[in-house]
Amino acid sequence: MPLLQVIVASTRPGRVGRTVAEWFAAEAEGHDGFDVELVDLAEVDLPLFDEPEHPRLQQYEHDHTRRWSETISRGDAFAFVMPEYNFGYNAALKNAIDFLWTEWNDKPVALVGYGGVSGGLRAMQLLKPVLTAVKLRYVAEVPIPFVHDRVQDGSLEANDPMRSGAAGALDALAGAV
Ligand SMILES: Cc1cc2nc3c(=O)[nH]c(=O)nc-3n(C[C@H](O)[C@H](O)[C@H](O)COP(=O)(O)O)c2cc1C
Repeated sequence: MPLLQVIVASTRPGRVGRTVAEWFAAEAEGHDGFDVELVDLAEVDLPLFDEPEHPRLQQYEHDHTRRWSETISRGDAFAFVMPEYNFGYNAALKNAIDFLWTEWNDKPVALVGYGGVSGGLRAMQLLKPVLTAVKLRYVAEVPIPFVHDRVQDGSLEANDPMRSGAAGALDALAGAV
């Protein structure tokens, strides 16, 4: 089966991103179309982009880049589980994208955004041009408004729009790999 990597974009202590990603990964396991791997940018622990050459050349100088390249190379599809910070996407996600190029090319991605009233929509809209630059194929978005209201005892209590949004995104990913 194709490998879907669910990427936790938030790296801050106390984040809800990991909880949201665990919910989406469980939905993906239930979908039966993928093998699923959770990739947590807090654990990947990349520094600010520090490669001398353009990633297109894949002449990586640092072990952290080679490890990140190996991780993303094995992915066939992605879900970016991303917060909205100051009406935009978070810096750790942009940094992680910028480290690579070929490894992202032609693979489908769904965006699972969350925040307050906007449900991460502004962040997801701003990320879309970035995806085109690394030739990721955007297929779906799942907005989650008022995410903190949905977290109970460390897990996400999904509502119907979230469940149907996740199912639609997973179908779109499966149809695009
Ligand atoms: C620096 C910062 C900026 C934020 N800006 C927004 C925002 O523009 N829109 C929004 O809906 N929520 C915003 N929030 C609230 C976040 O959606 C909320 O804190 C969420 O938990 C962040 O995701 P995380 O916990 O996974 O890091 C912001 C939070 C932080 C820390």
